[in-house]
Amino acid sequence: MTELDPARIPRHVAIIMDGNGRWAKNRGMPRIKGHQAGAESVREVLKACRKIDVEYLTLYAFSSENWVRPKPEVSGLMTLLQKFLRDQSHELHDNQVRLRVIGHAGDLPGAVRKELNRVIDETAHYTRGHLFLALSYGGRTEITDAVRAIAQKVKAGELEPDDIKEETVAQHLYAPGIPDPDLMIRTSGEMRISNFLLWQLSYAELYVTDVLWPDFREPDLLKAIEAYQHRHRRYGGIK
Ligand code: FPP
Repeated sequence: MTELDPARIPRHVAIIMDGNGRWAKNRGMPRIKGHQAGAESVREVLKACRKIDVEYLTLYAFSSENWVRPKPEVSGLMTLLQKFLRDQSHELHDNQVRLRVIGHAGDLPGAVRKELNRVIDETAHYTRGHLFLALSYGGRTEITDAVRAIAQKVKAGELEPDDIKEETVAQHLYAPGIPDPDLMIRTSGEMRISNFLLWQLSYAELYVTDVLWPDFREPDLLKAIEAYQHRHRRYGGIK
């Protein structure tokens, strides 16, 4: 049984949900079945986060690189996302969770954008929990977009180059004012960040599990948080 210290629950958990394809392959099923099972893990993890009071959850649902996957897989993922938003919105309401997106959401098909905007608008007043979906998201693109926005302010005479601080960059990211992730979980054993939250993960504790995302359930989340609670975060200092 996992013993968690309620006083040291990470405020923000970010997850790279990896291994859907392998999960399906292991069962001789098409890849989309792995994504469908993965959507079930999203539901369960979201519920578990509310239960133990993780305030912010950021999920890497579709990277800017994922567009190169075979067309049927991409459209299957888009349909799944739309269905998730339709089926899951009552859970967000019940738990007073606000949904937001980071990434180039404008790249998504119109029907998905419509569903997303509906749920984003309907949940905009909630403050108890926050769910961020990274969609058509790339960490380098996010930083590049921030640099461009800052350069435009310099060009317009609104900002002096000498006044550009770390906070200036942070304020121009997709979700300014959000605490950086304390814990980043990656499933399926790969030891990579894969262009996820490159700026925000600077001091995050990293936890990699061999569990494939469709098998990841509440006990796996609790185990990751327990491991996090045994870490000593030093932020470059000594302790
Ligand atoms: C990585 O597994 C997973 C994805 C690219 C998509 C993640 C999507 C979901 C979990 C389902 C839908 C999401 C929501 C928010 C409802 P992979 O396909 O790269 O697996 P592999 O490395 O084993 O091939």
